[in-house]
Amino acid sequence: MKISFIGSGNVAWHLSQALENAGHAVIEVFSRENRNATALTKQLYNAKVQKDLNFANSDAELFFLCVSDDAMEEVTRKLVLPEGSILVHTSGSKSLKDLNELVEVYSEIPQKTGVFYPLQTFSKVFHVNFEEVPICIETESEDVEKVLITLAQDISEVTYSVNSDERKVLHLAAVFACNFTNHLLGISQEILSHNNLEMKLLEPLIKETFKKALKSPKIFNVQTGPARRGDQKIINRHLLSLKEKPDYQRIYQVLTESISKKN
Ligand SMILES: NC(=O)c1ccc[n+]([C@@H]2O[C@H](COP(=O)([O-])OP(=O)(O)OC[C@H]3O[C@@H](n4cnc5c(N)ncnc54)[C@H](OP(=O)(O)O)[C@@H]3O)[C@@H](O)[C@H]2O)c1
Repeated sequence: MKISFIGSGNVAWHLSQALENAGHAVIEVFSRENRNATALTKQLYNAKVQKDLNFANSDAELFFLCVSDDAMEEVTRKLVLPEGSILVHTSGSKSLKDLNELVEVYSEIPQKTGVFYPLQTFSKVFHVNFEEVPICIETESEDVEKVLITLAQDISEVTYSVNSDERKVLHLAAVFACNFTNHLLGISQEILSHNNLEMKLLEPLIKETFKKALKSPKIFNVQTGPARRGDQKIINRHLLSLKEKPDYQRIYQVLTESISKKN
């Protein structure tokens, strides 16, 4: 299938290459910054940099809108797509209705639409095994559904039909599981490095924490630590150690309260 990408960020970077590895042809990449589009085309077989958002003469059948959620309106306002093509976004938090409303307002021809949400964290520099990435699909058209399911199954072993409300819930849960966890690990790293200690020392602990959580039907039940034990002396000492970092102190307090309430 001939596919074009609008956006060349983390998702476009990995998804476009996974699609090409599965035998599809990425023919165009547009990005706000030309050099970012160029960098992505260098990773692809035969893709060209598209300099503007007028794709009227494009041969692509499917367009991936992989821009920041806040940029979707600005981009769709200028976007011109060939008749009969499909436009999908890859966002966890934007609904299909959001995309349909933008297309209705800004597109002169009716547009087939859908959502192709890869539930994973993507950074350009880290390899992702797409076969394991759940692809959450949504569309209102049976034809588009067939296309998106086939495409998802070409790159991944895990495909789900997920509606916009369910996707928002998944996204909220993912923010706790991934984004907040990553931030907490960043705080750990900072605390260690300020005391000339290596993050490597925490590696076995981090691995065991994730292993236990993934194996536990009720993750709250395998909670450990001073908040779980109600050890107020240690909690006070930790809060005192964080007196120079009021933001971290607040995070510590909120999480401690939340853990205490669960137990
Ligand atoms: N990263 C993840 O882990 C992840 C996972 C699943 C889904 N998603 C979703 O996938 C979509 C893309 O995310 P991403 O992580 O790939 O984003 P990203 O790496 O931050 O890249 C954002 C892209 O949007 C473009 N852009 C930003 N503002 C723009 C504007 N005002 N006008 C035109 N283009 C603009 C950027 O263009 P330039 O770089 O050329 O400036 C870039 O190509 C989002 O909807 C996100 O929610 C992300």
